[in-house]
Amino acid sequence: MTDVIQQLEKKRDEARQGGGKKRVDAQHARGKLTARERIEILLDADSFEEYDMYVEHRTNDFGMEKQKYAGDGVVTGSGKINGKLVYVFSQDFTVFGGSLSEAHAEKICKIMDMAIKVGAPIIGINDSGGARIQEGVASLAGYAEVFQRNVLASGVVPQISIIMGPCAGGAVYSPAMTDFIFMVKNTSFMFVTGPDVVKTVTQENVTQEELGGAKTHTSKSSVADGAFNNDVETLQEVKNLIDLLPSSNREKSQQNTNDFQDLSPDYSLDTLVPENPNKPYDMKELINKVVDNNYFFEIQSDFAKNIITGFGRVEGRTVGFVANQPLVLAGCLDIDSGKKGGRFVRFCDCFNIPIITFVDVPGFLPGVTQEHNGIIKNGAKLLFAYAEATVPKITIITRKAYGGAYVVMASKHLRGDINYAWPGAEIAVMGAKGATEILFRNEIKNKAKIEKRTQEYTDQFANPFIASKRGFIDDVIRPHSTRKRIAVALDNLKNKELSTPQKKHDNIPL
Ligand code: HXC
Repeated sequence: MTDVIQQLEKKRDEARQGGGKKRVDAQHARGKLTARERIEILLDADSFEEYDMYVEHRTNDFGMEKQKYAGDGVVTGSGKINGKLVYVFSQDFTVFGGSLSEAHAEKICKIMDMAIKVGAPIIGINDSGGARIQEGVASLAGYAEVFQRNVLASGVVPQISIIMGPCAGGAVYSPAMTDFIFMVKNTSFMFVTGPDVVKTVTQENVTQEELGGAKTHTSKSSVADGAFNNDVETLQEVKNLIDLLPSSNREKSQQNTNDFQDLSPDYSLDTLVPENPNKPYDMKELINKVVDNNYFFEIQSDFAKNIITGFGRVEGRTVGFVANQPLVLAGCLDIDSGKKGGRFVRFCDCFNIPIITFVDVPGFLPGVTQEHNGIIKNGAKLLFAYAEATVPKITIITRKAYGGAYVVMASKHLRGDINYAWPGAEIAVMGAKGATEILFRNEIKNKAKIEKRTQEYTDQFANPFIASKRGFIDDVIRPHSTRKRIAVALDNLKNKELSTPQKKHDNIPL
């Protein structure tokens, strides 16, 4: 018995060494933690239950039978984040560059299957040279098994990918199909083909960082949802996000009663919107003042900044915020904001997270580039997502809500549950100036007359009362009471039920 125990401890110890001291030192020298150190930071102390520690690859080609490492380049198991069960895999770059073999893939698939079965989030820490070259098609098959599970898990349990090193070739498609991707600045990259292939095929000279670093993917491609300074900070932020999210689609929206529940008025909000309707203001100020403890977890903060998306709590309940940002493009909707907002709304709807929408939108962004690149289909993504969502939808129009964009932003007409407006809201087909210039085109040269017509239009239409008279707006509320009104609405809607016609799945414009 003692022998067996000694053997077990020896095997465990071997597995903990990964690819050996030299490679671990090299990993540290790059400012990266090892697979196990990352898990230790991510999970609550002593909560990690490791599986398949002794799994080895089964290849005999290229002399591989002489190179075996317990665990085969990935550490997998379950654990807790602030008491919440999660399943995790963490690729070990010190073992064959974290490359994915058949056995390595089987380990990942096992924890994904368990997570789906029990209803717990999946967190994947990616640090890998891709398909294990020595294994050929067996490795490709392994990736395919993981991809299939990413799709089966989608909408069932939250899936989070953390990119902490290379992620290249077809390997990028597993993170791409998860809900959120977070990268580490300067030490992680993602691309389908690397700089050398790019140079050969297109003669473009580009560095790894320019092609697929964190900055590129958070600000240009929108592949990643956030980037942080180092491994520790990234893991800490993922913990914060997990804290806000439900464990699965089986979980109803929950109230964390430990949270700060002060609902007293915030009078500073009464002066947030400037007198001049053309002057911007920061919509994030409103979000920060509405959420508990002023804590807002923003998603895609560096992409399509004209729309803000992210999570927070109101009276202890997790909600998703979608808000136009008047500081950027005057808050207009464009292609990028359609994609960003649409995907976020769908995530919330999958996981029973109520959606709070703050509206200040002068319309869709005009332009040849926008039209030629598909503003029609991309704008429709957000419209479609809001219209299909059955979670509680609470909308507050702070200022402008013009034309099609008014309809899109969770209006009453798209099954909005509670639709409020601030007193200065302008709900109309378009802005007063544009409207009068069309209606009174023959008077356009007479500046004084046009100004008078514009004023008349403003007085008559640029207010929340016409929409209120029809019941499109449930109440015109004072800005200072916004947090309280949202909290009450969320409480009223907590048992909301709404169904859609039976179907296999919908066909959102992609
Ligand atoms: C086996 C690999 C490997 C791989 C790296 N290693 N990638 N072993 N299969 N794919 C090994 C190296 O041999 C080396 O072993 C160790 O990992 C560290 O690699 P280095 O090259 O020394 O590290 P670095 O300089 O940091 O470069 C990292 C890298 C590079 C950029 C990832 O290794 C690289 O380009 N690897 C190949 C990437 C690739 O082409 N993969 C296949 C993509 S196709 P030693 O023993 O020296 O420590 C793909 C298809 C998926 O993934 C399809 C899904 C459908």
